[in-house]
Amino acid sequence: MTAHIHVSSDSSSVAVFSLSNDRISYLFQVSPEGFLEHLHFGAKVIPAANYPSQAKRLHRGCVLEFQDSTYYNLSDVAQEYPVFGTSDNRNPALHLINADGNSTHVFRYASHEIVDDKPLIEGLPSARGGNSQSLIVTLLDEVTKLAVELCYTVYDQHDVVARSSRVINNGDARVTITQIMSSCLDLPAADYDLMHLKGTWARELNQDRMPVPKGRFVIESATGSSGNVHNPFIAVMDRSANEQQGRVFGTAFVYSGNFAINVEQGEFDSVRVTTGINPFNFQWHLDAGESFAAPESLQVFSDAGLNGMSQIWHRFIKQKVSPERFNGQPRPSYLNSWEAAYFDIDESKVLALADITKSLGLQMLVVDDGWFGGRNDDTTSLGDWYPDKAKFPEGIESVAAKVKAKGLKFGLWYEPEMVNPQSQLYRDHPDWIIGVPDRVSSKGRNQLVLDLSRQEVQEYLFSRIDSVLSCGNIDYVKWDMNRTMSEIGSANLPRDRQLETPHRYMLGLYRLVDRIVSKYPEVLFENCASGGNRFDLGMLHYMSQGWVSDMSEPIGRLPIINGASHLFPPCVLASYICPVPSHLNGRQVSLKTRAEVGFFCAARGLSLNVEDVEKDFEALQYYAKLYNETADDVVNGKFYRVQYQDNEVVWQLNSADGNTVYLGYFHILSAANLPFRRARLLMLEADAQYQLLDKQSAASELSFGGDALMNMGLDMPYVCAMQPDQADYLEKGDFASRLFVFKKI
Ligand code: GLA
Repeated sequence: MTAHIHVSSDSSSVAVFSLSNDRISYLFQVSPEGFLEHLHFGAKVIPAANYPSQAKRLHRGCVLEFQDSTYYNLSDVAQEYPVFGTSDNRNPALHLINADGNSTHVFRYASHEIVDDKPLIEGLPSARGGNSQSLIVTLLDEVTKLAVELCYTVYDQHDVVARSSRVINNGDARVTITQIMSSCLDLPAADYDLMHLKGTWARELNQDRMPVPKGRFVIESATGSSGNVHNPFIAVMDRSANEQQGRVFGTAFVYSGNFAINVEQGEFDSVRVTTGINPFNFQWHLDAGESFAAPESLQVFSDAGLNGMSQIWHRFIKQKVSPERFNGQPRPSYLNSWEAAYFDIDESKVLALADITKSLGLQMLVVDDGWFGGRNDDTTSLGDWYPDKAKFPEGIESVAAKVKAKGLKFGLWYEPEMVNPQSQLYRDHPDWIIGVPDRVSSKGRNQLVLDLSRQEVQEYLFSRIDSVLSCGNIDYVKWDMNRTMSEIGSANLPRDRQLETPHRYMLGLYRLVDRIVSKYPEVLFENCASGGNRFDLGMLHYMSQGWVSDMSEPIGRLPIINGASHLFPPCVLASYICPVPSHLNGRQVSLKTRAEVGFFCAARGLSLNVEDVEKDFEALQYYAKLYNETADDVVNGKFYRVQYQDNEVVWQLNSADGNTVYLGYFHILSAANLPFRRARLLMLEADAQYQLLDKQSAASELSFGGDALMNMGLDMPYVCAMQPDQADYLEKGDFASRLFVFKKI
């Protein structure tokens, strides 16, 4: 095993912890005061007697010295788990109010333990272990008897350090946690950029890069879900880093609720990255004898730029985060009823859609919204998870059986966490919602959020979903969640615990989801929240894929998939061919471009009605076949961002064995007299020959050396409206695309 934790101590009994595999190291030491001083995260450093960089103890103007230590100012000491109030003025990892009413604590090293593999965090999603070692360090505050456990896991095969923290109240009185971060990474002073993924509904996950500013840059959510405004992911990198080179430190949070990631450049230019539950509007009482476990934070190091970082995330998420059951499994191609029929579905329409699904050669029919209660629009019935008798007189289970009898898989949509005021569930249990006394609850899409912190709510939802899944004919579930929380409180909690509601909700949600996916391991679950409103590693731990955005129109989707690819591998991304003009932005995009953008997500299909399908039947059959034949390559392949500019995007996907290479070229707006462009391919074998199979290209059937494709680059087809259609030209007009396929020979 190469993942290894080494502990050294010299004569002054200062321990240095060195966690490494063959490529990376994470180092910290115990200072004479008992603090955990961070030494290094980056490329491998072999454990040594001395290290060339250390926390300084030198005179500086106008600084505090920690208690009795001379010149030891914690505001410029890199630390593993800092607190506020004892000379470090930066944002802390931990802030709590103790029984004396103050927030001053000094957590010193007490003990450590090294364990093979990786402990789980009970009740919360976390990465799996395997070929890994973990270090658990316990810190103690003498005065309050509070303990903090910090857990670090290193892996043989993954350049990831998994981290979490836990506070244990060994005192005899209640304390109140107001801030508990899962990880803190203090980087030495240097010029860094940061990159995060931002957006809103239907424009999620757009990449945004900027210099790390002085002060504090925060991405966060406070609405009960990780959100579509910021994804719980950040990369801090050398300013000179680009897609292919440079040091990148990536952080992703394995949590689906309120989060905060802070990047703080302090007065002495060092940079602190803290990741955890958002402290805003959060408070947690910890009574004597209780402990609080913070969710997991994952940290990646790459010295091969952003693409290098993405490769590490992709492999890790595939192998250690998303459910094992569907790892490497090709996803079924599908027809989804949503943009085909919206709420206007019934048994005969479903069976008609099933027939065209089958005749196109697709593999699964998904019945989206509209099958339950009296759901004819979005004003009613969420919560009433009984098949609509008017639409499905014999129940949804019987329709599922009929669809399966046609040789298709069958999928079903749920939005379990929600209730419409117009529903039997709400009439029966008006107190089952997230809400506060004497206030009107704000609505989103005419619905309210159920209080999943309550066990009876979890039980109700489990029994409703179980009653349908137990028929054995449901192959896939799309688990949706279409509004965030407001007026946040729980009728089930006392006054002084109201601010615990969002985290208790997450614990309840994870408990419910875990129970369902464990009972139905053969069902493929897709995470959705109005698209990407909760697209995070917490949900992806239970569900193998996600509907990354409601933006189904491919040009609008390009920046979303490009941004998502920084963290997420294609195997967790779902996509479909949408109708034209787009219902989301009115754009009219060719079927070819719609299908070729969608190609780079593993769960691929379409959402078209019978008339739309009939218009393009043969072309759709062609793409269904292409999707089926390449399903294994996309789920198991390696995805690379080759180019991303305002008007042009180039993506590459190499099959797992490297024998097939797909290159997608997407040209957004047409113009006259454009420059000729090339794309340099990545990660080919320099001395192998690659034969181009794309029939549309003049160069078709030619073979090229891997070295030439990577170093000279491949000519991209030319956009020119004045020429007749030719292989070297892209189709005329806006929103054109070309999918090249190479076979290694
Ligand atoms: C959300 C989802 C869509 C669709 C609708 C159904 O908006 O993101 O894909 O399922 O709900 O109401």
